[in-house]
Amino acid sequence: MRANHLNEHTAIISARREALCDTLARIIGRSDRFVWEIGSGHGHFLTAYAAAHPDETCVGIDIASERVARADLKRRRSKLEHLHFVRADAEDFLASMPQNARFTSIFILFPDPWPKRRHHKNRIMKHQFLAGVAARSAKGAQLFFRTDHEPYLRDAASVLRENADWIQEETATLPFEEPTVFQKRAARYFTLVAIRR
Ligand SMILES: C[S@@+](CC[C@H](N)C(=O)[O-])C[C@H]1O[C@@H](n2cnc3c(N)ncnc32)[C@H](O)[C@@H]1O
Repeated sequence: MRANHLNEHTAIISARREALCDTLARIIGRSDRFVWEIGSGHGHFLTAYAAAHPDETCVGIDIASERVARADLKRRRSKLEHLHFVRADAEDFLASMPQNARFTSIFILFPDPWPKRRHHKNRIMKHQFLAGVAARSAKGAQLFFRTDHEPYLRDAASVLRENADWIQEETATLPFEEPTVFQKRAARYFTLVAIRR
């Protein structure tokens, strides 16, 4: 990237993060603990989860605006004030969330598997990302990962095993079930659970 393009790119990212900071301060500024879903898609899981957990602030993010719009429609219909859907990239979210806020649970359900080897770098389950999530997680926070792509399951399990911040659990079930769009399409799927040390 040429220097002026790089400056432009950096400026775009900081403007985006600044706007996200304001949105998140407004939404979750007063709750210091919350549940986070990354890639919340059409919002099926988190809307049902929030309805069943009225005392937990729930925030779902997705980079696809039309998916966030559909999820937000569900939120408005459900009238759940502790539920929020935000258009955001997961790394921008980590960089923009309020300083005192910590995750109690993190759900990553059917993330894009990026099956080609040369695209593995795009997978969300990476060391650096998990370290960033750990830094913003309360002690004992639970991370739930589910995929229908078996090679991604193996890769995610090995990344978690090698990461000192997370202890992988033997029992790999979600504490709450509501099938997502991708889960309904999957012939079978696999779940990993890890606890923040
Ligand atoms: C395969 S879909 C799964 C959606 C939903 N969880 C489900 O199971 O139906 C993956 C979702 O992750 C979103 N996504 C991909 N990368 C993301 C990122 N870096 N931050 C936030 N969302 C992301 C995509 O836009 C997409 O909606």
